[in-house]
Amino acid sequence: MAWHREHLPDPLPAEPLGLAASWLAEATRSQTQPNPNAMVLATADASGQPSARVILCKQIRPEPGVLTFYTNYHSRKGRELQENPRAAIVMHWDQLHRQVRVEGRIVHSSAAESDAYFATRNWQSRLGAWASQQSEPIASRADLYKAVARTALRFALPAPPPDEQAPDPGQKIARPPHWGGYELWAEAVELWVEGSARIHDRARWTRTLTANSADGSANPAANAAFGAGPWSATRLQP
Ligand SMILES: Cc1cc2nc3c(=O)[nH]c(=O)nc-3n(C[C@H](O)[C@H](O)[C@H](O)COP(=O)(O)O)c2cc1C
Repeated sequence: MAWHREHLPDPLPAEPLGLAASWLAEATRSQTQPNPNAMVLATADASGQPSARVILCKQIRPEPGVLTFYTNYHSRKGRELQENPRAAIVMHWDQLHRQVRVEGRIVHSSAAESDAYFATRNWQSRLGAWASQQSEPIASRADLYKAVARTALRFALPAPPPDEQAPDPGQKIARPPHWGGYELWAEAVELWVEGSARIHDRARWTRTLTANSADGSANPAANAAFGAGPWSATRLQP
């Protein structure tokens, strides 16, 4: 029996998110699971109480080391990220025997980037972003349909039928201000590959982020939220 199926490169790559992005691309290509870009997002409120939920990773940018996801800024996660702009994510591809963990700092995506992504969503999703006060209580399923129908009326649209293939009525639905992207700026990344006989392979990369001031004066060359130090990497015992 081979001692291992696959292991991380040795020596470890200088930065980890290129490999993570290639794993995501491979998971997408191989169609081994319906939502290969699903990831668990953990946040915590100001008291330190953690919460977690599944969301979709829409982009991994190895340079500058950022993951992007989209949600409602007023949702529970949105409120927690407002109080405590730090988060951790986990992606897991069971069939590929790989796991990615990222911890870091959170900022809103630019309005232009959120607008551009919102415009790619189907009309039901765009309507839903206006209709749903994500994470707020609602008395019944019927009330939820009513809220969607009321929102459709506001946009002079028919209430969306349950058929997801219903043709786009072609109405412009702008992005609601409470909905958009977040950038998770990685401060720590761990890549994990399952080994045989439980001798898994793990490595952790860390770096230091320095907040750029709002006017970009700390790093005038980059219109970015953070300046990043170099990655340092180490293998971990399984
Ligand atoms: C596969 C899957 C993908 C999801 N993707 C998203 C997403 O990209 N954005 C989002 O806001 N919620 C997404 N959700 C719903 C979230 O899990 C969650 O119910 C919602 O965001 C409210 O979370 P909160 O109350 O903690 O803010 C997804 C759920 C599943 C199961």
